[in-house]
Amino acid sequence: TILIIDFGSQVTQLIARRLREAGVYTEILPCTTDPENIKNAAPNGIILSGGPNSVAMADTPRAPQIVFDMQIPVLGICYGQQTMCQQLGGRVEPGTSREFGRAELDVTEECALFDGLWAQGTAHTVWMSHGDHVAALPDGFRVVGKSDGAPFAAVADESRHYYGVQFHPEVVHTKDGDKLLSRFALDICGCSGSWSMAAYRARAIDAIRKQVGDAKVICGLSGGVDSSVTAVLIHEAIGDQLTCVFVDHGLLRKGEAEEVVRLFGGHYNIPLIHRDVSEMFLERLSGVSDPEQKRKIIGGSFIEVFDEEAQKIDGARFLAQGTLYPDVIESISAAGGSDVTIKSHHNVGGLPDDMKLDLVEPLRELFKDEVRNLGRELGLPEVLVSRHPFPGPGLAIRIPGDITPEKLAILREADAVYLDEIRKAGLYDDIWQAFAVLLPVKTVGVMGDARSYEYVCALRAVTSSDGMTAESYGFSHEFLARTATRIINAVKGVNRVVYDVTSKPPGTIEWE
Ligand code: XMP
Repeated sequence: TILIIDFGSQVTQLIARRLREAGVYTEILPCTTDPENIKNAAPNGIILSGGPNSVAMADTPRAPQIVFDMQIPVLGICYGQQTMCQQLGGRVEPGTSREFGRAELDVTEECALFDGLWAQGTAHTVWMSHGDHVAALPDGFRVVGKSDGAPFAAVADESRHYYGVQFHPEVVHTKDGDKLLSRFALDICGCSGSWSMAAYRARAIDAIRKQVGDAKVICGLSGGVDSSVTAVLIHEAIGDQLTCVFVDHGLLRKGEAEEVVRLFGGHYNIPLIHRDVSEMFLERLSGVSDPEQKRKIIGGSFIEVFDEEAQKIDGARFLAQGTLYPDVIESISAAGGSDVTIKSHHNVGGLPDDMKLDLVEPLRELFKDEVRNLGRELGLPEVLVSRHPFPGPGLAIRIPGDITPEKLAILREADAVYLDEIRKAGLYDDIWQAFAVLLPVKTVGVMGDARSYEYVCALRAVTSSDGMTAESYGFSHEFLARTATRIINAVKGVNRVVYDVTSKPPGTIEWE
């Protein structure tokens, strides 16, 4: 086990993810944790994460002393390096300029952490994000790497197996940063590297059983990868204590509702309540154009329906959700941390304060591709596992402006044609997410010999590794032209098709 002590960095979860990729089991504990928890985890080594605070200020978090009393390897990253150096007798200075983004690390000396990876005298691209820097080292430490903004960018005390880096090895912009972390965990801490998704599955099942006891759980099923994996995982843990509730809000894609009922109620035989509340949702959304208001209405109404269903199930105390890690950080409010709310994801930010159910969220630590692997591990069909993400608020956030049954019907058809073309061209698995958007704009066209005046359909397709950043997919012009023609011919109500080439940032993947 590698224990990660979290000082609140946005990228702490990436450390865990990199280690999981290297086959290493990790646990993350907040820096305020009881020292007993650190001891009980019996880690082979500890990583101190980055964080938004300044070590140079009083009353900012420190690593619990036990970290340095356990005589095991420690790696400090960014804030973690700074607090480690200060706590062991060094000094941290506030910087006059921030170093942010790509930087060059000069490896000035050999060190066990770089062994077989970065030789003395070579330079490497790393990713920095700091204001303060270490200015004097504790006894026993030496500098092994420096950058323009950080004279002590990498430090080591090999006799105690203590290492510190100012840069972030966990982000992809640090070249070979993943290898550096796996070198620390495998070679320096002696972890075996044999951990896998099978072990994650076993541990998650254990944790679900402990959390839930003999209470009943309801799980919101959407037909997407996340809620499907959540449902099958929980069903494996507690069997028929789980009831799935499929709320058909009328904002689903073509054929989606039928598919969910067939797979879960039929194939998996998971108790499934199918509530068709599309009329209620459409009524509540009628005339609403503001994206945040749409999300709040949908999120609130969802929970209301769940609560109703839960009350009908004797002993239901928990609501299971397929919340992923990126959902969690994108929804953290400005009050809670340094992040700002970009969108209120309905499965996190939209929950009302008076919700009667406790949450079970077994995927909360995972990224999308890891959830897919867990799904494969659980034996879910590949067509489901490799499905593109679909947002909780559904087609509502793909119709800018107000939503009507007519617009929904047009969008469903256009989206189905678009995805059919993508599948036929064999491109589905190269794309993170592809969908049609119906714009509230009508333009003039000519069909046959007549004038037409119909809606514009925008096509979106992006590549991404976790949904947090994305690039527009580079279709051939020929593909786009063919698809546009087919949509305009097949879908009544659309006479113009455009392609969205915006990346994220500055755009987001969805249009609302
Ligand atoms: P954005 O549009 O923020 O989307 O770039 C990033 C990813 O999140 C999905 N998304 C959502 N998923 N509930 C969800 O479950 C939501 O409210 C929601 N909003 C966006 C989006 O489809 C993309 O995959």
